[in-house]
Amino acid sequence: MIGVAAGEGSDAAVTARRLEGVRALVTGAAQGIGLAIATRFADEGAVVGMLDRSATDLESAANAILQRGGAVVSLLLDVRDRAAVKGAVDDFVAGQGGVDALVNCAGTITLRPFLAVDEEAWDDLMDVNCKGTLWCCQAVAEAMIGQGTRGSIVNVASVSGRRGEIGNLAYCATKAAVISMTESMALELAPYGIRVNAIAPGIVATPMWDRIDEQAATLLNIPVGEARRRAASTIPLARVGEPGEIAGTAVFLTSADACYVTRQCINVDGGSWPG
Ligand SMILES: NC(=O)c1ccc[n+]([C@@H]2O[C@H](COP(=O)([O-])OP(=O)(O)OC[C@H]3O[C@@H](n4cnc5c(N)ncnc54)[C@H](O)[C@@H]3O)[C@@H](O)[C@H]2O)c1
Repeated sequence: MIGVAAGEGSDAAVTARRLEGVRALVTGAAQGIGLAIATRFADEGAVVGMLDRSATDLESAANAILQRGGAVVSLLLDVRDRAAVKGAVDDFVAGQGGVDALVNCAGTITLRPFLAVDEEAWDDLMDVNCKGTLWCCQAVAEAMIGQGTRGSIVNVASVSGRRGEIGNLAYCATKAAVISMTESMALELAPYGIRVNAIAPGIVATPMWDRIDEQAATLLNIPVGEARRRAASTIPLARVGEPGEIAGTAVFLTSADACYVTRQCINVDGGSWPG
């Protein structure tokens, strides 16, 4: 844990705060979708544990939320490290008196044709996207069960987990696994009143998509930006998504409005799946 603070004076235009008092952990919170979710959760009144492995990005992300009046705790660690995850969750629980919500957003991608997927590439994607998600869910669920908290877990999967994609076999497999893990956890945790859902984003404008664009350009011998243009042209709403549009669904699933929603995976993709 590298800091706990609550900023003063909010410029956030929030009228009805939907997560007031919720103690939430968000992984991959230093940038992209995770940062948008952490920011929106804080705006909605949650105390947010921002977990990421990138020290510089995490510090500036946490400071940005503090400056808009949010309450955040920075947790610098790699989700692949099971002991570190357990330690960070235990610290957060000790500091806040419990944990009510988790959003698993930490994730990675490397495009590679099926025949070129080697053990290192496969393990890297599986370790971050699947094992990391599992360790975070286990640590948080244990804490919730121990305290009798009827909490919420949201796993950020992908529409790539619903289908196969050229040059993306390993990532698709990890996200299919995240959807499957969400189902199993929802069933096992339902007796404790803990809800587990997933979000399947389509294309969202984040640093990850910048990397996808560059990798696709090399892989397909096309200009950088062309992959995004081609992908966007197939989306019924005719544009890529913004991180904040994923955050809205994460707020809904975590809030009391979703108190009877569990074991679901919600597509937030402009209507692109099923394609
Ligand atoms: N951007 C998209 O189009 C898109 C679409 C579908 C699903 N997703 C999923 O949404 C999630 C967030 O994606 P994004 O686009 O914001 O990605 P991003 O690369 O922009 O941000 C990911 C964040 O996760 C952190 N992270 C990565 N590995 C980590 C690890 N081992 N431990 C701790 N932190 C780690 C990174 O440091 C970074 O801050 C990912 O799970 C991704 O697979 C993204």
